Amino acid sequence: MVRAMFTRIAGRYDLMNSLMTGGRHHAWRRVAAEAIAAATPGPVLDLATGTADLALAVRALDPARHVIGADFSEGMLHAAMEKSAVRAARLPLVGADALALPFRDKTFAAVTSAFLLRNLEDLAAGLTEMRRVTIPGGRVVSLEITRPAMPGWSQLFGLYFHKVVPAVGAMVARDRTAYTYLPASVDRFLTPDELAALMRKVGYGDVSYRRLGLGTIAVHIATV
Ligand SMILES: C[S@@+](CC[C@H](N)C(=O)[O-])C[C@H]1O[C@@H](n2cnc3c(N)ncnc32)[C@H](O)[C@@H]1O
Repeated sequence: MVRAMFTRIAGRYDLMNSLMTGGRHHAWRRVAAEAIAAATPGPVLDLATGTADLALAVRALDPARHVIGADFSEGMLHAAMEKSAVRAARLPLVGADALALPFRDKTFAAVTSAFLLRNLEDLAAGLTEMRRVTIPGGRVVSLEITRPAMPGWSQLFGLYFHKVVPAVGAMVARDRTAYTYLPASVDRFLTPDELAALMRKVGYGDVSYRRLGLGTIAVHIATV
């Protein structure tokens, strides 16, 4: 269901991100890219790369890095391929399921993902896979949407996310279902503290996070 949904909306995905966030999504990815650029030297995997914005942001900050994008949606990978060609980035792209990565243990200096974790059927298994393919001392960085905690703002954000976003999604992406799934998946997802606790439980060290976007985004950084 998730794979088919992202393939359906791939053509309008970037436009919807810019409309929903007022263009702020690039600044959030830059924060994750900075955390990756500070990782130990070596290749980087951008898991669930989608249209490759985070992979390209890492490349832009750290041009010497070998960055690979992986995703299980053909439509998203196609959009990533086109964008990467337009920017002459020649980004290697791989079809892969985050729950069964086609990479050997300890392959990457860092693994990053943006807006993936709440889509996983088995979050602990996904985090364990990310850890498996990262070298000891390497980093795992996750960017994810989260419910803001501030009273008043939280309710306002909920209203915007549950009412306005599906309506814009229906109009612009012609897919109300996908943009109804989006707020529902955020509601179901863990709080930043709960995610940090799960990361520690599956074996990560030095887990920390910071909130961005008025508390609507969390960037988790962990050491393997
Ligand atoms: C919300 S998009 C995020 C795309 C991109 N990372 C970004 O920053 O815009 C979620 C992406 O996760 C991918 N995805 C979801 N579950 C996945 C899985 N199990 N394995 C690989 N990719 C997955 C989807 O195909 C989609 O491209």
